[in-house]
Amino acid sequence: MKMCENSESPRSFGAARHGQSRGARARISARICCACIRARINGRARINARARISVRMSARALILAITLFLGVVLSGCAKGAEAPSETSLLLGFSQIGSESAWRIGNTRDIEEQAADFGVSLMLENANQKQENQIAAIRRFIAYKVDVIAFSPIVEEGWDNVLLEAKSAGIPVILVDRDISTQIEGLTTCLIGADFYKEGVMAGEYLIRKADSLSLEHVNIVEITGTENSTPMRQRQAGFMDAIAGDERMTVLESIDGDFIKSRGAECMRALLATYGDQIDVVYSHNDEMTLGALPEIEKAGFAPGKDMIIISIDGGQEAIDVLKEGRINCVVECTPKLGKKLMETALKLKEGEKVDTLIHPEEQVFSDEQDPSQIAPRGY
Ligand code: AHR
Repeated sequence: MKMCENSESPRSFGAARHGQSRGARARISARICCACIRARINGRARINARARISVRMSARALILAITLFLGVVLSGCAKGAEAPSETSLLLGFSQIGSESAWRIGNTRDIEEQAADFGVSLMLENANQKQENQIAAIRRFIAYKVDVIAFSPIVEEGWDNVLLEAKSAGIPVILVDRDISTQIEGLTTCLIGADFYKEGVMAGEYLIRKADSLSLEHVNIVEITGTENSTPMRQRQAGFMDAIAGDERMTVLESIDGDFIKSRGAECMRALLATYGDQIDVVYSHNDEMTLGALPEIEKAGFAPGKDMIIISIDGGQEAIDVLKEGRINCVVECTPKLGKKLMETALKLKEGEKVDTLIHPEEQVFSDEQDPSQIAPRGY
């Protein structure tokens, strides 16, 4: 199943059942065009409120009918006359975008887990825009999905749309990132990494590295993730707290790289122009920005991993390969594999069961302190 890359590209709306192979599941996936759905929604704006509700319900019923029909016909072709079981859960998920290998791996994991759990997934890609996420959540409410999940690009600005979800009686799960609100009970739980701990692990690695090199002064530049996002705030806070008691450490500058490779390169160019060889350490909030920064460091005549200590976060395969080359010193893991917990939690919510309010996956540190050839393939 492919996710919708922009507002006019196809959006997936698939159903799958337990026990089927991926191939069989792919055969019964129904694909609905975003533009058609949007045209339908735009059309609705011109009719009166009562008609609007009934059109929405018809649209949803139509989609479910097509999904089930294709499921019956195609799985019948593939596996004899076996009838499919009814889809148990309709989950609307608003993804931030496709800014990093991490994000793409996270989307793929959620799609695969939805298929494995027999969950029908309405997946929307917001292309890095909060307003697109808010619009997607409103569409999920209009379609009366059973559960809404989303990864909020930034922490503030969700109260209104989440109050709408609450009034509609639809439980909301936060995936990956948190929100900031004064209103109680807008969301049921958060499934995502402990970003503060990741920042602490990065800072603790730096202290060990400075000890091992007997450094007396350590000048740090920080390339941060998207401003006002949870990982940006917490990775910064954890790192700063970890190095706060160490008088050798000076942060020369923190600069916003938005979790994007090209911005990582731009930020690094600006930092090199200002500080040049004063820079001892680059602490970058994700692999994508690190991978953008490395060629800039090399173009400026420095050897990353030797002349400058490079610390990254995520642990995607490309960064691990660069760690193996010795051009990155440390990568703190942030796993994108949140899909299984998401499906388990959504199914519990549908059944009205209690769920854990905070679920953090276990994460580790990969660094030049270990033999990097032993690191297993990362899968993202
Ligand atoms: O929220 C998780 C962060 O978002 C990942 O570190 C980053 O790569 C992604 O874009």
